Amino acid sequence: MNRLTGKVALVTGAGRGIGAAIARAFAAEGAAVVLAELDGANADATAREIAGAIEGARTLAVQTDVTQPASVRAAVDEAQRALGPVDVLVNNAGINVFADPLTMTDDDWRRCFAVDLDGVWNGCRAVLPGMVERRAGSIINIASTHAFQIIPGCFPYPVAKHGVIGLTRALGIEYAPRNVRVNAIAPGYIETQLTHDWWNAQPDPQAARKATLELPPMKRIGRPEEVAMTAVFLASDEAPFINASCITIDGGRTALHHD
Ligand SMILES: NC(=O)c1ccc[n+]([C@@H]2O[C@H](COP(=O)([O-])OP(=O)(O)OC[C@H]3O[C@@H](n4cnc5c(N)ncnc54)[C@H](O)[C@@H]3O)[C@@H](O)[C@H]2O)c1
Repeated sequence: MNRLTGKVALVTGAGRGIGAAIARAFAAEGAAVVLAELDGANADATAREIAGAIEGARTLAVQTDVTQPASVRAAVDEAQRALGPVDVLVNNAGINVFADPLTMTDDDWRRCFAVDLDGVWNGCRAVLPGMVERRAGSIINIASTHAFQIIPGCFPYPVAKHGVIGLTRALGIEYAPRNVRVNAIAPGYIETQLTHDWWNAQPDPQAARKATLELPPMKRIGRPEEVAMTAVFLASDEAPFINASCITIDGGRTALHHD
């Protein structure tokens, strides 16, 4: 359990869900972990929970809004002061904005891009100068299978997630000569509060849940820990030649042509 020993990792949106699972898995592998999260109370609670559960774990909660470049820079600076330079960044913070394109408000569009795409860039921009200087670093962007496939009525979330893949590939190529790797993970349905909120917004939440569980060929949806395991791999020294790539975690759903 020491695949990340000596590394400092900053995870955005780590107060709950996939981000919290990644923070926990990183700490279990020996990384010092910064939980950069909009909901400061959740960040504190999750950081305390991880520190209490994992012997020797070093965690730092920093209230952060990924839509604000200065807020992200401040989190990276605080991480560096407390724990050392950031070796691993996981841009995980994200929100669902699901609307009909023509009835969507301008605010919906801006809110979605501010978190789901600008937020990823703000994170990258804050850590890249240090990583380039040290000639080492791993950035992991949490995209979605919405980055390849479209569900009607879910606009503009997939547009932003397509952008996350483009950003990952572009930065992966730009900084490969400096030994900075930039990769993405594209989860399918994963059981988190976000998924529960979506089910609860449907006319029949139970039926929506049942239908979702039927979608992957494995006839279940994923767990946050299953995304975290891949994040550990990409963050570790076990993936030194994986760059500008995306790993899909969806039980095979996107490979399925037809139900
Ligand atoms: N759950 C899924 O099925 C699923 C599938 C594919 C992709 N994803 C992606 O995975 C990521 C995490 O999703 P989740 O299901 O854990 O969601 P979640 O809503 O459970 O957790 C997201 C966290 O991000 C935080 N956050 C939101 N806006 C923020 C901001 N401006 N600054 C900092 N933190 C902010 C929230 O407070 C929350 O703690 C997102 O990028 C999401 O798009 C999720």
